[in-house]
Amino acid sequence: KKGHYDHFMQKEIHEQPHSLTTTMRGRLKDHGVLLGGLKEHMKTIRHSRRIVLIGCGTSYNAALAVRPFLEELSSIPVTMELASDLLDRQGPIYREDTAVFVSQSGETADTLLALDYALENGAMCVGITNTVGSTLARKTHCGVHVNAGCEIGVASTKAYTSQIVAMAMMALAIGDDRISTKARRESIIYGLSDLPNKVREVLKLDSEMKALAESLIDAQSLLVFGRGYNYATALEGALKVKEVALMHSEGMLAGEMKHGPLALVDETLPIIVIATHDACFSKQQSVIQQLHARKGRLIVMCSKGASSSVCPSEFCRAIEVPQVIDCLQPVVNIIPLQLLAYHLTVLRGFDVDQPRNLAKSVTTQ
Ligand code: UD1
Ligand code: M6R
Repeated sequence: KKGHYDHFMQKEIHEQPHSLTTTMRGRLKDHGVLLGGLKEHMKTIRHSRRIVLIGCGTSYNAALAVRPFLEELSSIPVTMELASDLLDRQGPIYREDTAVFVSQSGETADTLLALDYALENGAMCVGITNTVGSTLARKTHCGVHVNAGCEIGVASTKAYTSQIVAMAMMALAIGDDRISTKARRESIIYGLSDLPNKVREVLKLDSEMKALAESLIDAQSLLVFGRGYNYATALEGALKVKEVALMHSEGMLAGEMKHGPLALVDETLPIIVIATHDACFSKQQSVIQQLHARKGRLIVMCSKGASSSVCPSEFCRAIEVPQVIDCLQPVVNIIPLQLLAYHLTVLRGFDVDQPRNLAKSVTTQ
């Protein structure tokens, strides 16, 4: 079933042009999206006072990636909840809320308990899941199947990018009645239709990421700084590295750098800064300058052709990625980090598809 690949994670990373295509199949139209699963409930969703995105691990990160443009396109306040934290706090969920539950397996215990809690509180409950017939799909009022195809590697890769795309389509559908954002929606739709091509292009970085992994094989730790649309990319890239390569890694909001993390910086600690072109670019440039001034071991992810202007010295490594519309850039940017985590794991001699202590589906609390 692995075909010519050595591991499922590797196969699933390289499958993403195809899995993204199946996620969008039959749903993308020239002037809008068609999500059969949400149609009848759209009025209720549009009238909700708040949208709460709920998940664990990678699924939470996918929701975080979508949050900025779900807010933008829907004009409804969007808040984030890790399922376990919502349960620990018994946080407020109201009848006027739309609660969106994101889960690849549809069987994660914390997510399902949070769903029961939101149902008891009378919220409109929407599921985003890759598993038809899962408990999540059955118990939610409505939802969107992610249709990424079965994911076997414990580390979620193709489900992450397809969850982002499924929720991007949900954001487009919710915002569909607003004239002021019509041009923006059309450019996102065009961006979605071209995304599999851009993902095919970024996958060509495979050997470059293997070389980067070789240079990081003995590192103790790896920091990843992102912001805006790519805050989620930083969290998800670091999660991949810690979960499969068993290397300490933290994803951080670049805006928080001066409030603590900067103290860690020295010439030995590798730091990836995500600085592809978007509205936060100049702020990321100044982050790069500050890390450089403290002799940080810099690796910069930037838009194609930008490395000479973004890298402050010849010691800074660059990862150049194809540019897409700002809100879809997280789909492209995570892929080099998935490849990096994969190659680091193989080089360090660990089990790629079944990392120690982890299960594909966490069905206990
Ligand atoms: C559906 C069919 C698809 C068919 C298409 C044709 C299924 C599973 N999907 O896809 O095979 O090609 O119509 O128009 O039969 N749902 C939830 N919670 C979730 C996820 C989904 O309640 O977490 C519900 C949806 O609200 C919907 C149903 O499951 O009622 C199917 O969802 P989805 O597969 O996303 O719908 P379509 O894309 O329309
Ligand atoms: O099946 P789910 O999406 O609900 O799983 C949630 C997390 O357990 C999962 O994403 C986990 O973080 C992955 N192993 C990450 O690769």
